[in-house]
Amino acid sequence: LLNDLKITLIRTSKVGKTSLIMSLVSEEFPDEVPLRAEEITIPADVTPERVPTHIVDYSGTDTCTSLYDETHMANVICIVYSVNNKKSIEKVSLLLNVLILLSCHRVPLILVGNKSDLVEHSSMETILPIMNQYSEIETCVECSAKNLKNISELFYYAQKAVLHPTGPLYSPEDKE
Ligand code: GTP
Ligand code: MG
Repeated sequence: LLNDLKITLIRTSKVGKTSLIMSLVSEEFPDEVPLRAEEITIPADVTPERVPTHIVDYSGTDTCTSLYDETHMANVICIVYSVNNKKSIEKVSLLLNVLILLSCHRVPLILVGNKSDLVEHSSMETILPIMNQYSEIETCVECSAKNLKNISELFYYAQKAVLHPTGPLYSPEDKE
């Protein structure tokens, strides 16, 4: 059984990865954020699944080697895009291919559509075909770091994806 979890958020440029982490921790939207948040550890007693959870930010200023290292240590990877930015949605497929090349696809992946406060319409129509294409994707969630909407849910889904996986390719033996 896993003793603790590592959740990694990877880059799709300015989509709000760092803001999501800071919003979760401080329960308010930070006006200014660093490029990359420090690794955060959430103690077991305040997580819904009662497992100590590490959250690792990833910024594009980091090297490919560090993308490899970070994703290989992760138990679940959140790919963040911005629902108001078509380019970032297109980049999701690209990132999925990179992760599969790095053979990180044994861990569950979660698609995260941030900045839902900026749009009226859901991005699900665009995201669903991508989800159907990759069985590694555990779930997708739309949220807003600004409105604090679905933030704790997002991290709950990430924990749940590791502890109660449903994806056919996920094998717990591979990770431990
Ligand atoms: P990099 O580390 O440079 O890849 O960016 P990032 O993905 O960490 O994004 P960051 O958190 O730095 O946010 C980028 C910009 O988006 C900032 O100006 C944030 O204030 C803004 N932003 C982040 N989340 C939201 C959100 O939910 N809604 C709105 N309206 N703006 C947001
Ligand atoms: Mg950042």
